[in-house]
Amino acid sequence: MAFETGPAAVRGALRFRFRGRDVALSRFSPRATVLDWLRDDMGATGTKEGCAEGDCGACTVVLARRKGGRLVHEPFNACILLLGQLDGAELITIEDLAQGAELHAVQQAMVDAHASQCGFCTPGIVMSLFAAYHAGEPATYAGLCDQLAGNLCRCTGYRPIIAAALDTCDGAPADRFAATADERAAALAALADGSDMIVGDEDAFFAAPASLDSLADLYARFPDATLLGGATDVGLWITKQLRDLKRIIWLGRVKGLDAIGETAEGALSFGAMISLSDALPRLAAIHPDLGELMRRFGSLQVRASGTVGGNIANGSPIGDLAPALIALGGKVVLRKGAKTRALPLEDFFIAYGKQDRGSGEFVLAVEAPRLAEGQHYRAFKVSKRFDEDISAVMLAIRLELDGRRIRAARIACGGMAATPKRAAEAEKALIGASLDEPTGWRAAAEAIGQDFRPLTDMRATAAYRSTVAANLLKKALTEMSGAAAPTRIGMLHAAE
Ligand SMILES: Cc1cc2nc3c(=O)[nH]c(=O)nc-3n(C[C@H](O)[C@H](O)[C@H](O)COP(=O)(O)OP(=O)(O)OC[C@H]3O[C@@H](n4cnc5c(N)ncnc54)[C@H](O)[C@@H]3O)c2cc1C
Ligand code: FES
Ligand code: FES
Repeated sequence: MAFETGPAAVRGALRFRFRGRDVALSRFSPRATVLDWLRDDMGATGTKEGCAEGDCGACTVVLARRKGGRLVHEPFNACILLLGQLDGAELITIEDLAQGAELHAVQQAMVDAHASQCGFCTPGIVMSLFAAYHAGEPATYAGLCDQLAGNLCRCTGYRPIIAAALDTCDGAPADRFAATADERAAALAALADGSDMIVGDEDAFFAAPASLDSLADLYARFPDATLLGGATDVGLWITKQLRDLKRIIWLGRVKGLDAIGETAEGALSFGAMISLSDALPRLAAIHPDLGELMRRFGSLQVRASGTVGGNIANGSPIGDLAPALIALGGKVVLRKGAKTRALPLEDFFIAYGKQDRGSGEFVLAVEAPRLAEGQHYRAFKVSKRFDEDISAVMLAIRLELDGRRIRAARIACGGMAATPKRAAEAEKALIGASLDEPTGWRAAAEAIGQDFRPLTDMRATAAYRSTVAANLLKKALTEMSGAAAPTRIGMLHAAE
C-alpha cells in the first residue's frame, strides 16, 4: 500500500555520495546491507565478507560525514550497516583509493612493509588505516592497536601492518581526498535537506524521520516497526538470524537525538543517537575507568556505528553501559507521542528481554551524572580478550564517603543476572564499613553471592562469575582505600 504521508515534506529516495557522484535510490529492501549493495548491485567485490557479524573487519568501509563543522572519516563494518544508513554520507571503499596504477599512500606502505599474505583481510585493514590517515593527528603505536582491534589478520601478523601505518599516518593527509575536502563537504551539505525520508510502502519501508515529532508520529502509526540506531545489534538479526525486517525506522537523521547536553542537575545527557565513539571522551572525563571501558567496547567500527541509546534500549544483560551508568546514578529519558518521562536506569530493565518501554515509546536520551565531592567510582570489564569482546562480568561501583567511612554505595553488575542489576545486599553490607578495615568488606563480598544467581554459558561458568564479582568488589575497595594503585590492561597498552 502506498505511503500516506503527514504534513512534513517527505523525500522518497535515499541519497548519498559515492565515487564523486550523488546516488539516489528510490527502491531497495529495508534490510539490505551496504555490503550487499556493493557486492551484488555494484559488483564492487573488493570489499570482502568474512564473519558477517561485525567482528573481523574484512568488510570495512569508510564513511565521510560532516560532524561538528568538519568532515570526519570513520570506519564501519559494511556487513551490518544497513544501506539506508548511508543517507547524507559519502561512502568510500577499497576500490576508490588508488588512482589508476598509483596506489594510495597507505596501500603503497602496506606493499613496502610486506604487510599482506593471503590478502583476505587487507582491504579492510587498508580502509581502517585510511581512516587513521585522515584522523587529523599522528598515529601512535597504542592508537593503532585500537584502530586495528576490529580488523582480524590471521596470517601476516600486525608488526608490518603497524609499521606501514606509522610510516604514513602522520596527521597531515596529502591525498586527493584531503585536497577536495571542502568540495566534498559542500556536496554533503547539499544533501542535508532536513526532510523526512521514506523509501517503500506501508508494508515494507526504510524510514529516516528528520525531527522528533515526525519520529513520534511515525512510530505511533507503526509501533511494530524496528527502531534502528547504529545496527550493531539489528544488523546481526538480519545476517545471522535471517529475520525479514519489513518496517525499519532509522533514528540517524532525527534532530534532537544527536546532541550531548547537560541537565539542570549537571549530569551529562547523551542524545540516544550519540555514537559510542563520541561518548567515549565525555565518559572518560567522568572517570578514567569509563575511558578504558569504552576503549574496550567492540572496536572502532562498532563504536563509530553503535549508539548510547541502542546499548540501553537493547536491554542486554551483558551490555557494558548499563551497569557503568547505573552505578553512577544514571537515568533513561523516554518519549511517546508528545510525552517524555525519565526513570532511574535500573528501573528500565524489568526482566530478560523486557524493558519499561511502552508501545510507540522510544529512548530520547541517557543521563550520566558526574561524580560529586566525596564520591568514588570504579568500573571493571572482565572478558576473555582485551579487545572486541563481550563482558563475562562487568562491575561498577560508586561510594560516598564520610571521611574513611562508607555512607552510601551503588554497585551494579552485568553478566550476573537476566538484566543489568544492582547488588542490593552487598550495598547494604558496605554501609558504615571503613576503608581502613578490610575485614569489614568481607560481608559485602559474600553478599554479592546472594545478590546474583549467574548462568553458566560459553563465556564463563556461574562459579567463575560469582568469584570474579566478589574479587572485583574487593579490588575496587582496595584501590579506593589507597592500599593499591589501580592496575588496568589499558594502562599497559597506552605506555607501549
Ligand atoms: C562485533 C561487536 C562487538 C560488540 N561489543 C560490545 C561490547 O563490547 N559491549 C557491549 O555492551 N555491546 C557490544 N556489542 C553490542 C552492540 O554494539 C551495542 O549494544 C550497541 O550499543 C548497540 O547500539 P546500536 O545503536 O548499534 O543498536 P541497534 O542495533 O541499532 O539497536 C539495538 C536495539 O535497540 C533498539 N533501539 C535502538 N535505538 C533505540 C531508541 N533510541 N529507542 C528505542 N529503541 C532503540 C533497537 O530497536 C534494537 O532493539 C557489540 C556488537 C558487535 C557486533
Ligand atoms: S564481514 Fe566480518 S566484520 Fe563484516
Ligand atoms: S593476510 Fe591473510 S588474513 Fe591477513
